[in-house]
Amino acid sequence: MDRPAPSLSGTVHVTRPLPEPGTALLEAAGLTVTANSDDRPLDAAELAAAVADADALVCMLSDRIDGALLDAAPRLRVVANYAVGFDNVDVAAARARGVEVTNTPGVLTDATADLAWALLLATARRLGEGERLVRSGAWSGWAPRQLVGQPVAGRRLGIVGMGAIGRAVARRAAGFGMEICYHNRRRVPSDVEAQLGVTYVGLDELFATADVVSLHAPLNADSHHLVDADALARMKSTAVLVNTGRGPLVDEAALVQALDEGRIAGAGLDVYEAEPVVHQGLLDRGDVVLAPHLGSATTTARADMVELCTRNVVEVLSGRPAVTPVPPGP
Ligand code: DGY
Repeated sequence: MDRPAPSLSGTVHVTRPLPEPGTALLEAAGLTVTANSDDRPLDAAELAAAVADADALVCMLSDRIDGALLDAAPRLRVVANYAVGFDNVDVAAARARGVEVTNTPGVLTDATADLAWALLLATARRLGEGERLVRSGAWSGWAPRQLVGQPVAGRRLGIVGMGAIGRAVARRAAGFGMEICYHNRRRVPSDVEAQLGVTYVGLDELFATADVVSLHAPLNADSHHLVDADALARMKSTAVLVNTGRGPLVDEAALVQALDEGRIAGAGLDVYEAEPVVHQGLLDRGDVVLAPHLGSATTTARADMVELCTRNVVEVLSGRPAVTPVPPGP
């Protein structure tokens, strides 16, 4: 982003230390930046105090932005969420108060799709167990029955949520010769289906027929526990579940039970129901691969997210439309 000429006045609060370019672009635009320099989420009272005089807020998925917080920030004009997901923001409450809400779509699509594939492969091929075995010093060499996993190439991939990240996951699957089915709230245009080589199916069919189920749906009231005991019971005993969306898409207790009962082969998870707490039943299992919410964690994605948040703040405070306002609700 070209540094905007200093022209704006106003205060923006940033709730966690940002990666490069940090707050330099906001400052270059003429804004006064207040920032939480501790890399920990502020509690509700700390956040309310921090935004009392703010015209703009750059926040994270670890911040809950609700009506009470918005009422504590009477000057606020824009909430720029440093994430593509925005389930941490009460968008209706913000819009009711005339506050714009923006997110960071597009710039983290490839990073997140890559991570979904990393988890998919690591889970299907039991890489976590293998890595721990080698590090333990207990590995006694190649063995014909050692850590035999599930094949990926040529198998059937079921993608739940065919937005930008779901599509990027599908494009990668083509290189593995996978048959791809998907489910989305709205079926995507037929030219997009043809280009991606994907077939639209109902959720029940997707769960019942896919060898890998990968979740890319936004979290909202409709998608909460989309993968519940029923869905898990439908899945193949050889199937693998991958979640790089949001933790509450999956009923973790039901997932643990399904794994305990051998109903599915494994799970690769980047997100959890109550982050940073992870269900003990998952921590205890070898057949799950657990990542600490790394979907967008590449140097370029995180820097581009900073730039996009900055552009959104600058545009709204300049009286222009936001670059990436969150889409209207479900
Ligand atoms: C997102 O963008 O929603 C990720 O979960 C965090 O970067």
